[in-house]
Amino acid sequence: MVHLGPKKPQARKGSMADVPKELMDEIHQLEDMFTVDSETLRKVVKHFIDELNKGLTKKGGNIPMIPGWVMEFPTGKESGNYLAIDLGGTNLRVVLVKLSGNHTFDTTQSKYKLPHDMRTTKHQEELWSFIADSLKDFMVEQELLNTKDTLPLGFTFSYPASQNKINEGILQRWTKGFDIPNVEGHDVVPLLQNEISKRELPIEIVALINDTVGTLVASYYTDPETKMGVIFGTGVNGAFYDVVSDIEKLEGKLADDIPSNSPMAINCEYGSFDNEHLVLPRTKYDVAVDEQSPRPGQQAFEKMTSGYYLGELLRLVLLELNEKGLMLKDQDLTKLKQPYIMDTSYPARIEDDPFENLEDTDDIFQKDFGVKTTLPERKLIRRLCELIGTRAARLAVCGIAAICQKRGYKTGHIAADGSVYNKYPGFKEAAAKGLRDIYGWTGDASNDPITIVPAEDGSGAGAAVIAALSEKRIAEGKSLGIIGA
Ligand code: GLC
Repeated sequence: MVHLGPKKPQARKGSMADVPKELMDEIHQLEDMFTVDSETLRKVVKHFIDELNKGLTKKGGNIPMIPGWVMEFPTGKESGNYLAIDLGGTNLRVVLVKLSGNHTFDTTQSKYKLPHDMRTTKHQEELWSFIADSLKDFMVEQELLNTKDTLPLGFTFSYPASQNKINEGILQRWTKGFDIPNVEGHDVVPLLQNEISKRELPIEIVALINDTVGTLVASYYTDPETKMGVIFGTGVNGAFYDVVSDIEKLEGKLADDIPSNSPMAINCEYGSFDNEHLVLPRTKYDVAVDEQSPRPGQQAFEKMTSGYYLGELLRLVLLELNEKGLMLKDQDLTKLKQPYIMDTSYPARIEDDPFENLEDTDDIFQKDFGVKTTLPERKLIRRLCELIGTRAARLAVCGIAAICQKRGYKTGHIAADGSVYNKYPGFKEAAAKGLRDIYGWTGDASNDPITIVPAEDGSGAGAAVIAALSEKRIAEGKSLGIIGA
C-alpha cells in the first residue's frame, strides 16, 4: 500500500460534507446515544461510591471488594529473585524478576501462546498443565532447574477470586470470555501447585494476585504517590489500599497480629458495578452485548468500557444500520456476522487511520471481512469508533473518581496499564478529560491534582514484590489472612 501522506493522525473529525443526509442523521443519533455529559458522569460516581462502600459491608453488594491480603506498603527495599506468571487472554507470561532493593528491578520474560480454545476448554486440567509445562520450559531456558532453593512464585490471576489469605484464590466466576467448567468455586492455587509438583519443579506459589493489585504495588515500589492501580484492557478494574478498620466484612475475622490501622490492598472488581442497571447510560447495543454474552447480567460496567467488548459494540451497530438498509448494502456480511470477530484492535486501527479517504479502514473491511465500504460509510464508522472509545474512557474513570472521593485523596498518581490504555488512540486524553469534567478542573491539564500515569509492570514486578512481602510475613510468623485460613 502506498502511503500518500505523513502517517500522523489528522484532526479526529474529518469533514462530513460529503456524507448523505440519511447517514448524517444516523451519526447524530449515535452521537446522542454514546455521548456522556459531565452531569451523568458525576451521577455515576456518586452511585459508584455507595456501591464500593456496600461491597465492604458484611451483607455485600454488586462490587466484590476483595481483600488482597497485601498488608504493607512496599518500601522499595524488597530484594531477591522471584518468578511471576500472568495468565492473560491470549498469552501466558512467565517472568523472572530480580528486585534490586533500591526501588528498581530487572525482568527476563517469555510468552507462551495459549492453545486455541483454551479459554473455553472443557477440561480444566489442561489449563494448569499448560501453565506448569510453560514454567518448566522457562526454567530450562533460564537454567533455573539446578538451583537448590525453591523459587517463590507470584501468580497473577486476573479474575474475581475470593481470598481468605494471600496464597489462595477461589474463583467466583470467569470474566472476559473465559468459560472453563469446574473451576468456579475452587481454589486455583492447589490446582496449579499440583501440576507443578508433578513435574518436580522447585517452585512454590506464595501469592495469588489480581493484576490491579500487582499494578498498585509495583507502581508504589517506584512511586509512593501512587494511589491506585487500574487496568483498562480486556477487562476494567481497580485496586487501592484501604484500612482494615474500614472494612466491615473483616470484623471479627482477623488474627490479633493484624492491627486495625493496617493497610489492606483491595481488588475492587468494579467491572460488576451497576449490574442492577440503575445509572449507567446503556444503549440498546449495550443491552444486546450483555444478552448475547456468556454471562448475561454480569460485569455491566466492564461491558461498556473494556477492550473485550468495544469491537463487538461497533459490529452490532454496523449490522443494525445494514439491516435498516442504510449501509453496506448488497454485501456478503457472513464474516461480519460472527460474534466477537472484531477485537478492539479494529476500532483502534480505524481511529488511527491517517488518510483523508480512510484508506486503511477500506483495507481492513475488504481484507478481513470481504466488505466494500463507501467513503461516507467509512466516515460514519470512524466517528462511531471515536464515540465508543471516548465513552469507554469517560465512564471508566468514574471508578477512579469514586475511589479517590471515598478515600479522600485530593492528589496523587493513578497507575494505569492494559491494552486499551496503552494502544487505543485518544484513550489517555479522553480519560484525563473525563476526570477533569467530573471534578470541574479548569486551567492547564498539567496541573491536574490527580493524574493517570503509565504503570510499572504489575504482573511481573508487582507479583514479585507481593511474593517478597508475603515471604517476609511467613518468615516472621505473621498471619497471612483471616483466622484459621
Ligand atoms: C476483569 C477481571 C478482573 C481484572 C480485570 C482487568 O474485570 O474480573 O479481575 O482485574 O478484568 O484485567
